[in-house]
This record gives sequence, structure tokens and C-alpha cells, in this order.
Amino acid sequence: MNDSRLRAKFISFEGIDGCGKSTLMDRLAGWLTEASIPYIRVREPGGTPIGEKIRQILLDPASSEMTGRAEVLLYSASRAQLTWQVISPAMAKGAWVLADRFVDATFAYQGFARGFDLEHLAMIQHWATGGLMPDKTVLLDCDVDLAASRLSGRDGAARDRIEREESAFHRKVREGYLALARKEPSRFLLLDGSMPLEEVVEDFRKRFWLAEIGR
Ligand code: TMP
Repeated sequence: MNDSRLRAKFISFEGIDGCGKSTLMDRLAGWLTEASIPYIRVREPGGTPIGEKIRQILLDPASSEMTGRAEVLLYSASRAQLTWQVISPAMAKGAWVLADRFVDATFAYQGFARGFDLEHLAMIQHWATGGLMPDKTVLLDCDVDLAASRLSGRDGAARDRIEREESAFHRKVREGYLALARKEPSRFLLLDGSMPLEEVVEDFRKRFWLAEIGR
């Protein structure tokens, strides 16, 4: 195995709500553990005590009067805290980072779906994170209705402020993610989340774990 394969990697997982990305994260975490490779797992918004407080404000359905700009800045504030407090120190120690969402979520949700200018968002992200980007972004693409049906197990009251957005919003998020993946094909790994879960996991194992890590 060459050095670049051994180097700790920062992997983000993205997709619309209900696409099933946590299962992929569970599997990658399992493969890393089996291979005795150190890793940490974080989520956004959140992942730090301050970030978890920001998460509560962002996702609380009672925050319905939040302006779009405040939303952008709060997601970015949570990300700044996570980057400097947790992600960068972990990478400096050689641990892999598995992130449930990172900057692409802001481009897809606040950019493509809410309509904020992507260049402005990129500047804010760059400032918040010092320009840190994932080595690989796993995009689990799936149909909005399928994702909604997976979420429908949860009762309406349990849905957060963003999950309560109408399906047109989630369609824009999906299209946004696909546009981002087309723009950066070498960073994104696009997986078909409409396939049975075990097939998605197998595709992920072949195209990422075996192809890039060589184990
Ligand atoms: P989660 O449910 O995957 O933890 O994500 C929380 C919600 O926040 C989800 O609906 C996606 C949304 N979100 C944004 O709108 N912008 C962002 O930058 C991030 C990280 C998440």
C-alpha cells in the first residue's frame, strides 16, 4: 500500500433527508475498526457542545421565523466550531474523519434550494473552515418520494424544521447535489440510493474501500 492510501482521509456523506447515509457511515466505521485504522465520526450541524446547541436552534420547528441569512450563518458557525475544535486536530493526529454532511450541504440546501448565491456561500465556507474540504464526498442520491416514505415512519411532530419543507424544496436539494457532483467528479462518489441497501453498500465497498484503500 502506498503512502497516500495510508494517509488519514476526510470523508463526508451527503444526500437528501431519508436517503440512508447513516447506514453507509456505519459500514465504513466497521471496516476501519476491522483494519485498526483510527477514526472519528461527526455530524452537522452539531458535533461539538456549541454546535449541538446551534443544531437545536436550527432544527427546532419553533424557529419558523429564522431568516435565510441567519440560517446560512448558523450552519456555518456550527461548521467552524467543528472544524477547528474537532476535525483539524483529529486529522493532525492521523485519524480519519467521517462527517455526516459538510460544506456541500450548505451549497445544496441554502444555495440551490433556498436560492442564495453560490459564490457568496463559498466565500463564507472558506472563511469558516479555512478552506478545508473533504478528500471524498459520498453522495447517496435517491428519489424524493422514496426518501419521504422512509421518513414517514416518524410521526409529523418528530420531523425537524428542514424535513418539514415541501417536496419541491427537497427536489431542488437533490438536483443541487447532483450539479455539485457533476462539477467535481473526482471528489464525489455518486451512489444510487434507490437500490436495495445491501447493493448500495456493496457498490460503496468496491468503488471506495477496495478501489481506493486497497483492503
Ligand atoms: P441531519 O438531519 O442530516 O442531521 O441534517 C440536519 C438538517 O439540516 C438536514 O435537513 C439538512 C440540513 N442542513 C442544511 O440545510 N444546511 C447545512 O449546511 C447542513 C449541514 C444541514
